[in-house]
Amino acid sequence: MLMSLLIKNIGELFDGRRIIRNTCIYVEDGIIKSIGKEEETDEIIDAKGKFIMPGFVDCHTHAIFSGYRDFELEWKIDGISYKEIAERGGGIGYTVEQTKKASKERLLRETMKRVKEMIKHGTTTAEMKSGYGLDLENEMKMLEVINKIDKIDVIPTFLVHAIPAGKNADEYIEEVIGEIIPEIARRKLAKFIDIFCEEGYFNVKQSERVLVEGKKYGMTPKIHADEFSCIGCSELAAEIYAVSADHLLMTDEKSMEKMAKAGVIATLLPAVPFVLNTPYPNARKMMKAGLKIALATDLNPNCYVTNMQFIVQLACYKMKMKPIEALKAATLNAAKAIKMDHLVGSIEEGKKADLLIMDSPSHSFIAYEIGRNMVSTVIKSGKIIWQSEE
Ligand code: NIG
Ligand code: FE
Repeated sequence: MLMSLLIKNIGELFDGRRIIRNTCIYVEDGIIKSIGKEEETDEIIDAKGKFIMPGFVDCHTHAIFSGYRDFELEWKIDGISYKEIAERGGGIGYTVEQTKKASKERLLRETMKRVKEMIKHGTTTAEMKSGYGLDLENEMKMLEVINKIDKIDVIPTFLVHAIPAGKNADEYIEEVIGEIIPEIARRKLAKFIDIFCEEGYFNVKQSERVLVEGKKYGMTPKIHADEFSCIGCSELAAEIYAVSADHLLMTDEKSMEKMAKAGVIATLLPAVPFVLNTPYPNARKMMKAGLKIALATDLNPNCYVTNMQFIVQLACYKMKMKPIEALKAATLNAAKAIKMDHLVGSIEEGKKADLLIMDSPSHSFIAYEIGRNMVSTVIKSGKIIWQSEE
């Protein structure tokens, strides 16, 4: 039997590109069939004049890990840098130790708890990276768990994240190229390949080798670029036509232009400068250079945030993005950054009915009001998967 649903009395709709007022959405079998036509159906949701938007697409997360790093906060407050925190035994190294110790069952349980928080705050599609394993066994373990996550669409990425203890960068890269990439490809466990291109992690040459090799095996390159220094990582993104370059706190104008020409999406993660007390990326300059901007949480133990509404708020208040630009970056452009825009990221005919009914009168409130979860209903593929208690 055909399952149909009408959401009527929508006060304001953001469809991923523009605002439409006083409209409705008709859904059949989880897919959007029409906008603005009140088709006959038994299942009706009265939006009561509220604001409706596409489910958030969190296109950059490290949501799978074990062991929190709340102990680092006092160090951060004392002005200890990300690098110094890592040298003191915190940072990625700490999370790798904890994640290695965790069983698949435990990792799945812990990650699902975070996924539930993401859903509650309106995320209906998420990208998720490995990268706290740093050897064949543990990277595979992470990717297997990522591939098990349900309730929302989850897109897996293999991340070459740091130099494992007892090895140098080149030795790990040999293992990545010789063993890990072929095994991931054989088992079809990742859609994207990513690397932390940064001083003290992997240089441009090493990053290029890994990403080009991943590409040969069918994985699309992404890159953690220019987070702490501008050493040519975003230029590399342009040269190898990465789908996105992420972070971009230190990016210079020349690299912005190169990326814009190559069609690389700039994925900005404003919660990172928020927690590290570093300068925010220059979103306006990037837009002026012609770059498409996507927004994401970067959810990880250094930057523990599951709420995309907060990311929109930071983008507007701290990076001078307009509410409508930030919402587009957090939905449609984010879907483009993980090659999911044929299915999600906007409210249009033929796409999945991934919709949020927001307890807010307009799109601008999502950026304007801070700290309250404004989601009242989360609809994934036409089904209500979360509802607030009001
Ligand atoms: O994207 N910068 C590299 N990786 C993560 C942080 C990982 C961590 O600190 O555990 C990021 O911010
Ligand atoms: Fe990241």
